[in-house]
Amino acid sequence: MAQRSKSSKAWLHEHVNDHYVHMAKKDGYRARAAYKLLEINEKDKIIKPGTVLADLGSAPGSWSQVAAKLAGNTGKVFALDILPMEPIAGVDFIQGDFRESTVLTEFEQLLAGRPLDLVICDMAPNMAGNAVIDQTRSIYLCELALDFAAEHLKPGGTFLVKVFQGSGFQEFQAAMKSVFAAVATRKPEASRNRSNEIYLLGRNKR
Ligand SMILES: C[S@@+](CC[C@H](N)C(=O)[O-])C[C@H]1O[C@@H](n2cnc3c(N)ncnc32)[C@H](O)[C@@H]1O
Repeated sequence: MAQRSKSSKAWLHEHVNDHYVHMAKKDGYRARAAYKLLEINEKDKIIKPGTVLADLGSAPGSWSQVAAKLAGNTGKVFALDILPMEPIAGVDFIQGDFRESTVLTEFEQLLAGRPLDLVICDMAPNMAGNAVIDQTRSIYLCELALDFAAEHLKPGGTFLVKVFQGSGFQEFQAAMKSVFAAVATRKPEASRNRSNEIYLLGRNKR
């Protein structure tokens, strides 16, 4: 019985995965991750016409595609990734490692002092296969993104970040609460197969 429920779970995960991959192809999105942001936005309305935002860990670009479309001509997307990204209209991109201060400075120059309404971060480190190392690296990227959000968001601004539940998660959630008046968790349908991945949504930057 246990075996059977395990395999039916695996089947369901594969099925959900395939479904979003097909949808992404059909809708012209570069990754299935697009549907996570669309679903969160459907509920929380974080991106509107005119929204100015940063997309950290943006490649291959499906969140930037979604964000640029929703923010429209009056909005702006500033994106960054360690990997290259094909251009997207309405998106200014730089390639670099977010952990490096020179890259951060370059990205800040791109923003040119424009305060942000929103920071979205879907960064995930290359998994080394060692759970402790992977979790530590992942939380570190989240902390850097939170520091960036705290510095560049307007008062009242919003921060959406992917976090892996595990060691350091509670502490990170507490750190978010010191920056944002409200912190909620989101687990979109399209992220169902990545079991310990969750999104934290910080609203109303203090
Ligand atoms: C899950 S993918 C993002 C998918 C993206 N949201 C989309 O919709 O196309 C995670 C990204 O984080 C990037 N990343 C990981 N570590 C990084 C770092 N130190 N600096 C910048 N980007 C990083 C990876 O290169 C990868 O493209």
